[in-house]
Amino acid sequence: MAKMWAGVTAGITDSIADDFNSSIRFDSKMYRQDITGSMAHAAMLGERGIITKDEADKLIDGLEGILRDIDSGALQFDMKAEDIHMFVEQVLTERLGDLGKKLHTARSRNDQVALDLRMYLRDGIDGITSLVRELVSVVTDKAEEYRDAIMPGYTHLQRAQPITFGHHLMAYAMMLLRDLGRLSDCRARMNVSPIGCCALAGTTYDTDRYFEAEKLGFDSIAMNSIDGVSDRDFCLELASALSILMMHLSRFSEEIILWSSWEFRFVKLSDSYTTGSSIMPQKKNPDMAELVRGKTGRVYGDLMALLTALKGLPLAYNKDMQEDKESIFDALETAEMCLRVFIPMIDTMTAMRENMLRAAQKGFINATDLADYLVKHGLPFRSAYKISGQLVAKCIAEDRVLEELTLEEYKEMSELFEEDLYNEIDLLTCVEKRISEGGTSVASVEKQIAYVREVLAND
Ligand code: ARG
Repeated sequence: MAKMWAGVTAGITDSIADDFNSSIRFDSKMYRQDITGSMAHAAMLGERGIITKDEADKLIDGLEGILRDIDSGALQFDMKAEDIHMFVEQVLTERLGDLGKKLHTARSRNDQVALDLRMYLRDGIDGITSLVRELVSVVTDKAEEYRDAIMPGYTHLQRAQPITFGHHLMAYAMMLLRDLGRLSDCRARMNVSPIGCCALAGTTYDTDRYFEAEKLGFDSIAMNSIDGVSDRDFCLELASALSILMMHLSRFSEEIILWSSWEFRFVKLSDSYTTGSSIMPQKKNPDMAELVRGKTGRVYGDLMALLTALKGLPLAYNKDMQEDKESIFDALETAEMCLRVFIPMIDTMTAMRENMLRAAQKGFINATDLADYLVKHGLPFRSAYKISGQLVAKCIAEDRVLEELTLEEYKEMSELFEEDLYNEIDLLTCVEKRISEGGTSVASVEKQIAYVREVLAND
């Protein structure tokens, strides 16, 4: 079939080449943005007298009709079309005759595709942002529920100091707040209109780029037309922000996988977010968390594909840039899918306080506090450290914990021990003493919760 762009060439290409070249399979997603972009363009052409007001109105009506028909399913995409831009223009021309051919005055597909993609991704960011906000609030509510649930805090995956599950969860809330910040920064730089840059050099027509930008909700316009059509930083920034977000979800998933194992038994996932094994009846597998962890690599891959596609491109537009869409759409859709399952998975997760507490006790993470007790009663730290160490050794040998030793047993080691030692080594006391800003005490965690809720409420 001869192409709409038949000019110096006959516009007849091989059908394998046509399929290879076509992007309608994946860019038809942007039909709404393409059509609304074209409506603004037609309005601008009419406004500036490049076409008549009447022609502009007819074009806008025609475009509206196409949008309606695609939405209702009355109009199907033609998979033989080269891309969504060509498809819409073709249908418009079929419906309006020669007038349809006027739409493409003072623009090029190069600025058109850049426009559509920015508009599409802008909506994508808004969708991801509201999901991340939902996740932050679910995590924060969970943290509040478990603000006094003691668990071992880890470094090197070795029991280190007692913390609360609420404190641990709030660490993720902070990460997610930064993700929200990155998404919003990215959106601000994305919200710059490239339309009117045309092929690369601008146009001889007396266009009004600000008119179009404003109609389409952009904050400003690309100030250099070559940059306007060559720039895909907004895809890279979004893919980076999504990669970091996925990295956070992946670390969270990794912990959930560990915590729900029989070795830990710290949390229980709702049956709705686990699967059984086809052979081992006892299994309850954390598939959703594993998939989120797995899909993180896929989003990183999308970022790498984008960076690599762009690194060698001379200015301005090159067909390589058509590859941007599948990667960034995949990154966006993957992150969205992960969030959609992650939010209810966290929301329905329950913590097993007893097991967490027992694990915290078994780690002797209060041995330092026991030594400190003796120091407060006048013993030099080194001697106190030694006595505390001997008591820990006794516990290990007898498979007991410090809280279980009797006062007589303590007194055998030092006469300084009194009944109040139990309060001093109580894990809740150890946690409660960590009142520094951002620390693990219930009061500090409550402050963190209030802070996060305030940030959410204020934007
Ligand atoms: N389908 C193309 C893309 O996604 C649209 C731009 C085509 N421009 C061109 N000069 N061939 O990049």
